[in-house]
Amino acid sequence: MDKRPIGIFDSGVGGLTVVKQVMKVMPHENIVYFGDTARLPYGSKSKEVVTKFSKQDVRFLLTKEVKAIIVACNTASSNSLEELHRTFDVPIFGVVDAGVAEALRTTQNKKIGVIGTAGTVRSGAYENMICQKDGQMQVFSKACPLFVPLAEEGWTENEVARLAAEKYLVELMEKGIDSLVLGCTHYPLLKRCIGTTVGDNVKLVDPAKATAKQVKLFLQEKGLGNTGEALGERTFYLSDSTDMFYSICQKALKQGYTAEIIDIEQF
Ligand code: DGL
Repeated sequence: MDKRPIGIFDSGVGGLTVVKQVMKVMPHENIVYFGDTARLPYGSKSKEVVTKFSKQDVRFLLTKEVKAIIVACNTASSNSLEELHRTFDVPIFGVVDAGVAEALRTTQNKKIGVIGTAGTVRSGAYENMICQKDGQMQVFSKACPLFVPLAEEGWTENEVARLAAEKYLVELMEKGIDSLVLGCTHYPLLKRCIGTTVGDNVKLVDPAKATAKQVKLFLQEKGLGNTGEALGERTFYLSDSTDMFYSICQKALKQGYTAEIIDIEQF
């Protein structure tokens, strides 16, 4: 039995969609979350900068004595995970592996759409991993950078969000995809809007649930799970204040939380 928390980080509020699944799948685990709101977005930045930021995020979480870390950011998972594994001893999980496995399970016609930040799409991580696992798969990727500020602003279901979704997604629908990977942890916050745009024939794939299950299995196998009866404690840190954090928590986690602000440049 190991009561140490699981550390989870993202560039902002997007990783809350992963926290939600971790809370569901492992309700007794303590969680420490960090959202790098001062330096958001990660998606438009170079691999080098995203890797530097991600290392600082990990170093901060290590001060909270975490037993494992989830990189709840596709941009960092697809650009920086290998370097994080080389640098740190703590077990670190990305979201891409689980997203790929889930997409392969979901598609029937082997035509998969992937939406993510410019950095994730540029990395080719989803495409490469999907095609490595099954050479018959066709993958169509599209960067949808505006979805991130819309999610951070809480504009997830209004006219602006709908127009952005239509503009971004029409070309993927024309390819005949039957599955669409939400390859950015902010995007599940716009799930309803994205789902309405692509219609019922396209299944949305959110890597978060599969990631949470993967981490649960790992902790169980290593004897690192928190087997206590009490509900886990959740603690939130941001690198800059955001007025929207409490209400987005309320929407994403069905509970509002306040966050403490820390100076991430110190790590
Ligand atoms: N939520 C992050 C991701 O999954 C990054 C969004 C951003 O900062 O651009 O890629």
